[in-house]
Amino acid sequence: MLTGKNILLIIGGGIAAYKVLELIRLLGKAGANVVPVMTKAAEEFVTPLSVSALAGAPVRNALFNLEEEAEMGHIQLTRDADLVVVAPATADLMAKMASGLANDLASTLLIARNKPVLLVPAMNVAMWENSATKRNVDTLREDGCLLVGPDEGDMACGEFGYGRMVEPIEIMAAIEAYFSEGPLTGKRVLVTSGPTHEPIDPVRYIANRSSGLQGTEIARALVSLGAEVIFVTGPAEAARPDGAEIIEVETALEMAAAVKDAGALDAAVFAAAVADWRVVNASQSKLKKTVNKALPELELIENPDILATVAQRTKGRPSLVIGFAAETNDVVKNATAKRLRKGCDWILANDVGGERAVMGGPDNQVVLISDSGAESWPWMSKKQVAEALALKISEALA
Ligand code: CTP
Repeated sequence: MLTGKNILLIIGGGIAAYKVLELIRLLGKAGANVVPVMTKAAEEFVTPLSVSALAGAPVRNALFNLEEEAEMGHIQLTRDADLVVVAPATADLMAKMASGLANDLASTLLIARNKPVLLVPAMNVAMWENSATKRNVDTLREDGCLLVGPDEGDMACGEFGYGRMVEPIEIMAAIEAYFSEGPLTGKRVLVTSGPTHEPIDPVRYIANRSSGLQGTEIARALVSLGAEVIFVTGPAEAARPDGAEIIEVETALEMAAAVKDAGALDAAVFAAAVADWRVVNASQSKLKKTVNKALPELELIENPDILATVAQRTKGRPSLVIGFAAETNDVVKNATAKRLRKGCDWILANDVGGERAVMGGPDNQVVLISDSGAESWPWMSKKQVAEALALKISEALA
């Protein structure tokens, strides 16, 4: 059942929009609250009156509407939702999402959302198979969007192939699956991710090559197993994981403070590539090379070890503390020593000096080191590493 779940339903402009009326009815029957949003094109296919009558809530369709904004700002619409469903997800809506356009209410909500999105594509077969649509679908999947369908079959336009929207009953099954409990339901897990930036002056900083992808994928995998995830990230280029509480930080000190404030945790995964040092004498104004010909002297000081601090807590230590070890030589030996030195339960060691780039790349090859020894995993995508790790975490916390 979906009792009390808030579904923000974005209806795109396609012939399949008529099926959404049935979806709204099924959602209502299952106890969900539906907040409907329609694009201009959607109104060519179904009337706002039918949609709002079935949803029991007014249709929102304008970005600039003083009355509606006074009642509830458009950003709030996504904040109040438990899940955003886009049906039909047209080629146009997905292209806007993939490139981050925000020129009407639907696309603005989609870019402003902090909730997971379930896309239900529907379009002509040639549009679905067009390389631009394929690229957009890949991007949206990488951004963490969930997709259901499309199906293969006869289309309203008379053609046959993939592109037909799945039936409302299948959309309901996907929504119910999303809300169903997982092995990590009720567990709070912290993930640190990305690089940290340590300022030298207002325009320069010390950083590293971390893209944040491995940490993001771990957070996503934990969310999909039902965990409540607190995601503390440095300025990483990877998209933020939907469904997690996101805390953005810049420096190691800020990351340490955010971790300290995270409260009680069942597990913590430290995937961030934290800068080991910060500049003590960081300048408040830009260092000028012309004023003083001498090279600037940067005095470094060690940053707190966030992983070690949590792993060595005497009170409130998470039951499972997991670190990473970025090594360029003697990977297992160094990582084994690092695990003991830092006091974490598991360490995922990776060779960041090999020919295949791990930092900033899409794949990873890790060795999981625990007190029962070293377990070498094959080369996998960072998503697969994350899924395997999340599963192991769920087994360990069971
Ligand atoms: N880490 C941390 N805080 C730091 C430094 C590292 O939490 N100030 C965490 C990382 O998130 C990672 C683990 O410690 O999980 C190991 O990071 P790594 O860079 O491999 O090790 P270092 O402690 O920096 O040791 P070294 O540079 O000597 O290899």
